Amino acid sequence: MTAIVYVSNTGSAKTYAEMLGEKTGFDVYSLADSGSVPEGAQVIFIGWVMAGALQGLKEARERFGSLRAVIAVGMMKSEKQDGDLKEKNAITEPFFSLPGAFDIKKLTGMYKMMMGMMVKMMKSKLKETDDPKAKEVAEKFEEGFDLVDEKHLSEVLEFLK
Ligand SMILES: Cc1cc2nc3c(=O)[nH]c(=O)nc-3n(C[C@H](O)[C@H](O)[C@H](O)COP(=O)(O)O)c2cc1C
Repeated sequence: MTAIVYVSNTGSAKTYAEMLGEKTGFDVYSLADSGSVPEGAQVIFIGWVMAGALQGLKEARERFGSLRAVIAVGMMKSEKQDGDLKEKNAITEPFFSLPGAFDIKKLTGMYKMMMGMMVKMMKSKLKETDDPKAKEVAEKFEEGFDLVDEKHLSEVLEFLK
């Protein structure tokens, strides 16, 4: 039997976990509630990326040992980040990355402060450039964006067939 276990801060990893649960019929648990995952279940872990680290992965490994698959939800999909994530988090399991969502209004505390600084830096760099792409990116971060879509689960579903 397989279970899906997720860690999410603002909801995008949770949404992907629920979408995957719906498509596969596997039960979905937050890591905090994963005490009820049946003994011996294989676990697909879905976590969110913070500053290059996959949140909850260490705890999931400690609790479940080897994982059936590891899925990282970040701001966007990037091959460079995927490589770095695998190396930094010692991921040897089948690995997938999915684009999540960003909304500074949903953040609190330290996370809000970190990302507020990032947006501020982006905006101040705009003064030194008239690159329209840089302006577009800064605006996206200010307004927020949501890239969560079940189409991004196709590779994961193919792997699970
Ligand atoms: C403090 C902080 C640091 C982040 N660092 C990264 C990062 O290094 N790489 C990335 O792709 N996304 C990064 N993100 C974006 C989140 O991974 C993204 O918003 C994700 O969808 C959040 O998932 P959640 O909605 O399940 O919490 C960061 C977000 C915050 C708040």
